[in-house]
Amino acid sequence: MRRAETATLTWADYRAEFPIFESTTYLNTCSLAPLSRRVAAAVGEYLRLWQQFGASAWYGPWWEEIATLRRRVAQVIGADPSEVALFPHVTAALVAAASAVDFRTRPRVVCSELEFPTTRYLWQTKTGIAAVTLNSPDGMTLPLEEYDRAVDDRTALVVGSHVYFTSGMVQDITALARLAHARGASCLIDAYQSLGQLPLDVHATGVDFLVGGTLKWLLGGSGLAFLYVRGDLIPRLQPEVIGWFAHRDQFTFAPAFEYAADARRFEGGTPSVAAVYAASAGLQIVLEIGVERLRARQLELTSDLVARARETGLRPRVPSDLRQHAGIVTIPRADPPAVVRGLREQGVIVDDRPGVVRVSPFFFNVPDDHQRAVDAFAALERRGVR
Ligand SMILES: Cc1ncc(COP(=O)(O)O)c(C=O)c1O
Repeated sequence: MRRAETATLTWADYRAEFPIFESTTYLNTCSLAPLSRRVAAAVGEYLRLWQQFGASAWYGPWWEEIATLRRRVAQVIGADPSEVALFPHVTAALVAAASAVDFRTRPRVVCSELEFPTTRYLWQTKTGIAAVTLNSPDGMTLPLEEYDRAVDDRTALVVGSHVYFTSGMVQDITALARLAHARGASCLIDAYQSLGQLPLDVHATGVDFLVGGTLKWLLGGSGLAFLYVRGDLIPRLQPEVIGWFAHRDQFTFAPAFEYAADARRFEGGTPSVAAVYAASAGLQIVLEIGVERLRARQLELTSDLVARARETGLRPRVPSDLRQHAGIVTIPRADPPAVVRGLREQGVIVDDRPGVVRVSPFFFNVPDDHQRAVDAFAALERRGVR
């Protein structure tokens, strides 16, 4: 494996940032990134400030950290900070985005069965919306032709994932946005499983809305998510689900609501400041290494894992060209929860989704982790757990 190529730190140095590797074979970043010393220290700093300054921590460091976080989110997606709104989870970000879309003459939303549940459920329960859910022909991908057949001039929103959470396959979101726009629809992308793994220049993709969060590949823990809204759209959109953080001058406590000029017009209330500190520190690591390097490393790790899995007789579901795929390697099993439990007993942490076990390496993993994981799969098979 090549070196990390940052100024001074090697991949081994970065691995040492994550104490979990001292005791565990952790291959589950697609569910939750392991805790780094840096993120733990950042949360400690938040607590120290709270203890020392109480509410006056707001008047300096806490607001500054929120601004820093917004800048880092913008940087990782290639946006301007004014295009980023912060939320406690992706669900809240989606609800806010949906509340700004005019469904009166275009009541249809086209999404797919491969989206994360929240990203499907929202449209199914919203009054006045006809949700169209496309089926995947192979359970792994959603060919653009399926969208092409379904999106029409009554479609307000085309919804897709950048990386599918159950298959790890990458969607061409630039083509999806182009397809939506050609029919007069907007395009909303769930990029939770891609950000940090795949480089993104959100402006170049042309998408209108993009959501993500920090607990997976951005290394920042739970409680922090975000919505990107394309800059030129912001002045035209008037979200209906908002709070005092969406006011153009929130500390005037004005009786009448006026929208903030930037993407803050989508925001609600007070964020969890502990989550802000954790998210910001996680993003700092990602940006310090650089997503291009992370992607190159991820491709090496994924192909190593796939090769070792095949040598052990496992059949990972991946395409021949791994560049169409991210770092979520899925292995079909008859009883995935039993396999996940059995692996955990052997010190290997992965997770499952219907019909598959997900093994998701990231830059801090090493080939030995992969070997321990596939050996643990093999040991379970010998005991009839598969
Ligand atoms: C693709 C995708 N979208 C969204 C989520 C989570 O959404 P929320 O932040 O609302 O829990 C996840 C995973 O937890 C996910 O994998």
